[in-house]
Amino acid sequence: MSGAARHKEANSCNSLYGKDLLDIRDLDKDQIKFLMRRADTMLGALNSSKRLDPLKNMILGKLFFEESTRTRQSFEIAIQKLGGGYTGFNSDKETSVMKGESLADTIKVMSLMYADVLVLRHPDEGAGREAATHSDVPVINAGDGVGQHPTQALLDLFTLRMEKGRMKDLNIAIVGDLANGRTVHSLAYALALFNNNMTFIAPPELQLPRRIISDLKNNYSISTQKTSSIEAALDVDVIYMTRIQRERFKKPEDYARFASSYTIDEDFMSKAREGTIVMHPGPRLTEISPKIDSLPGSVYFRQASYGVPVRMAILKSLLVK
Ligand code: NCD
Repeated sequence: MSGAARHKEANSCNSLYGKDLLDIRDLDKDQIKFLMRRADTMLGALNSSKRLDPLKNMILGKLFFEESTRTRQSFEIAIQKLGGGYTGFNSDKETSVMKGESLADTIKVMSLMYADVLVLRHPDEGAGREAATHSDVPVINAGDGVGQHPTQALLDLFTLRMEKGRMKDLNIAIVGDLANGRTVHSLAYALALFNNNMTFIAPPELQLPRRIISDLKNNYSISTQKTSSIEAALDVDVIYMTRIQRERFKKPEDYARFASSYTIDEDFMSKAREGTIVMHPGPRLTEISPKIDSLPGSVYFRQASYGVPVRMAILKSLLVK
């Protein structure tokens, strides 16, 4: 085996070199700040005609067992903007998993075929961690069932920096399917690390898991608020909307019961605090009216675009000393 990325345990001044990124809690505050500064540099390069090639000849193996638009494309763009390339699949239907091959064997083969980093999206919680045990190269969790989505949390923090000028000491309302939404399961920890005040707005059945709330309290000394009333989002700095996660409901009628729990529209935004921004990890369904897309505080499309510089920063950090 050869190549820098193969030395998972190597020493270096960049403390992320050779590591996996499976859970947002894998990163400490300094590592997150380091990634934010790198993402600033990447954004600068993207906005100039400067060509970067620190990942020349490196290959990203993408293993997407679940649908994706933003996450997958931004990883594909990010690796190419850094001079590398990619291979892999976009759905389990394209793979030998359909013939009954295990996740372990799929991962082993990809990592032995000289991919330098693997990016995995999978319907099962914990799949990223399992994959990492079978891989000789860094594994990035791009969403594992209802588990975690750490690269989304990083791009969410980057969005706060870009759009609010800081990622700490903000009042943030997080709205929607907080039981099943993995973006929120990562974001809540990232926001807690930087001392943000969080209000979780969800139907009682879809509230944030109790274990996360008590973790935030006991391990991060952050107390949070919970409610089912969207009115609580009227007086905050940031409204983070999420979709009801249809694919996680066993019965269609249960999904139907919650599908239109919350919608924010022009009327709602006219009552909201001046300067409030609206974020959404995408895809947006009915929870944000397209009528507010042109408001200055509606930053969800720009948020998706920040996925590129942030994933460039992540890839370079895991793959170059
Ligand atoms: C999210 C996901 O896949 O968890 N999408 C994304 O990666 N931006 C959110 C969602 O699907 O609701």
